[in-house]
Amino acid sequence: MRHLLFYWTVGMVGLLLLNTACTAENEEDRFPPGENGDELCYEGNIDFDKHIQPILDAQCLLCHAPNQGLGGVIIEREEDLAVYARSGILEEVLFDLPASDPRKMPPGTELSTCDKEKFRDWIEAVNEE
Ligand code: HEC
Repeated sequence: MRHLLFYWTVGMVGLLLLNTACTAENEEDRFPPGENGDELCYEGNIDFDKHIQPILDAQCLLCHAPNQGLGGVIIEREEDLAVYARSGILEEVLFDLPASDPRKMPPGTELSTCDKEKFRDWIEAVNEE
């Protein structure tokens, strides 16, 4: 009986440690949203190829690649997206519209907090150029 108790205790402590380790792996827990410009959720300076392109690939090109161009919008290259960033349209469709608006992007889903932060910083950088 003693043995069982011992293994049970070791097991529980093990599970606890595992749980803590997994939580620490989560990017968004380690880096709280940088609304005040404090902690960033990505490394280095904001960069289109490194930070924005992967989001476009995963969340936008399904509809906005050259062979789709939904809504007449093709945003495959940095120059294309920069046009929307400079006009204020990108900020509007990503951040300002309610989920019920058909122009809210991406439709029917939310970007992660970190992806939003990357978009915000990139839009800001484009407008400072
Ligand atoms: C499921 C398809 C789909 C996905 C995914 C999608 N869009 Fe769109 N997007 C559309 C459609 C459809 C329109 C036209 C909406 C309208 O005018 O009513 C549009 C319009 C836009 C516009 C132009 C808005 C305007 O008023 O001129 C921008 C900019 C845009 N999308 C950016 C994005 C970005 C950035 C992403 C990824 C984060 C994205 N979209 C993901 C379908 C999509």
